[in-house]
Amino acid sequence: MVSVIEKRKKEHLELCVKKDVLFHNKTTLFEDVELSYKALPEISMSEVDLSTSFLGKKFSFPFLASAITGGAQVSKKVNLEIASACQELGVGMGLGSMRAMIQQPSLKETYYVRGVAPDIFLAGNLGAAQLKQFTPEKINEALDSIEADALAIHVNAAQEAVQPEGDVDFTGLITKIAEYSEKISVPVYVKEVGHGISFEVASALRGTSIKAIDVQGAGGTSWTAVDALRHKEGFGLIFRDFGLPTAVSLIETKTALSGTDKKVIASGGIRNGLEAVKALVLGADLCGNALPLLKVQQKKGTKGVREYLLNFKKEMQITSFLIGCKDINEIHSEKALLLGKLRDWVKE
Ligand SMILES: Cc1cc2nc3c(=O)[nH]c(=O)nc-3n(C[C@H](O)[C@H](O)[C@H](O)COP(=O)(O)O)c2cc1C
Repeated sequence: MVSVIEKRKKEHLELCVKKDVLFHNKTTLFEDVELSYKALPEISMSEVDLSTSFLGKKFSFPFLASAITGGAQVSKKVNLEIASACQELGVGMGLGSMRAMIQQPSLKETYYVRGVAPDIFLAGNLGAAQLKQFTPEKINEALDSIEADALAIHVNAAQEAVQPEGDVDFTGLITKIAEYSEKISVPVYVKEVGHGISFEVASALRGTSIKAIDVQGAGGTSWTAVDALRHKEGFGLIFRDFGLPTAVSLIETKTALSGTDKKVIASGGIRNGLEAVKALVLGADLCGNALPLLKVQQKKGTKGVREYLLNFKKEMQITSFLIGCKDINEIHSEKALLLGKLRDWVKE
């Protein structure tokens, strides 16, 4: 019998691939970030090396495929094909929520990618609300069985509020995240799903043992739109554009975490290597996306994902060359000019 979770997972995949699930009147605001172009960069593009490490694992360039799926039979192929491309390209990957496999361990095979991706940074995933449901031991067992390097806890009040069967009791979750980040056997980070982490939320997480925040801001896939489309009459579509643009969320999160050694991942609507380098200049340690990878995987399988990632890397290398930066340290010491709406937002 197909469980409620498996049915939802299938619907999410289908809606994301076939329907308009993007923000309509809000962008990431990376268009308001201007880099300092150097017509004479005084480096050779072949010198640009974007390799980095994150939570102890090496990346050939700073890209983390954001969580997409797991738990439905259709998830297996998606995960394996994205994972093989990530292994070839030397980048990391997040799996979809592991709630289904914790409830039904036979679903492990829909998440397990170590056969094709033995070396990549691999993050397991669970909703913050599920921390009330599962003990740290249960979660550790599941993480161990898929050989995950980290756990991403997703915080998604906007999505749950619109989801027909959403879990809207978010009381006490900051304390739970603090507690579980001490008890989980791998590093823990917190992620949104496309509506952004604010200064206040990042500040509340600052004192916990989480190792990073993945901002997943607004401007790409709108998860209020995805779940509104699961209501008969599209109830909830007024929330399609809710949330903090990714560039704003990144700046707010960086500010809230400054002075700590916590990392920041820029994501949510990042669609090319130029935007990714802008995010690095604003202080991100890694960048990532989900929907473009899913779409290319559905059309062209592993080969398509590999080409997409190669292209993305090339765009990042060109951008670094054009601002005269050989590596991520140099990119991090670059300054960006903030214009228009982004500047207004950050001033406020
Ligand atoms: C089909 C699909 C399923 C997703 N499932 C999860 C999930 O299980 N857990 C999670 O944290 N995020 C999930 N996400 C959200 C993404 O990780 C990401 O935060 C969001 O899509 C915004 O990034 P994008 O604009 O690059 O798509 C999913 C995304 C897609 C496209």
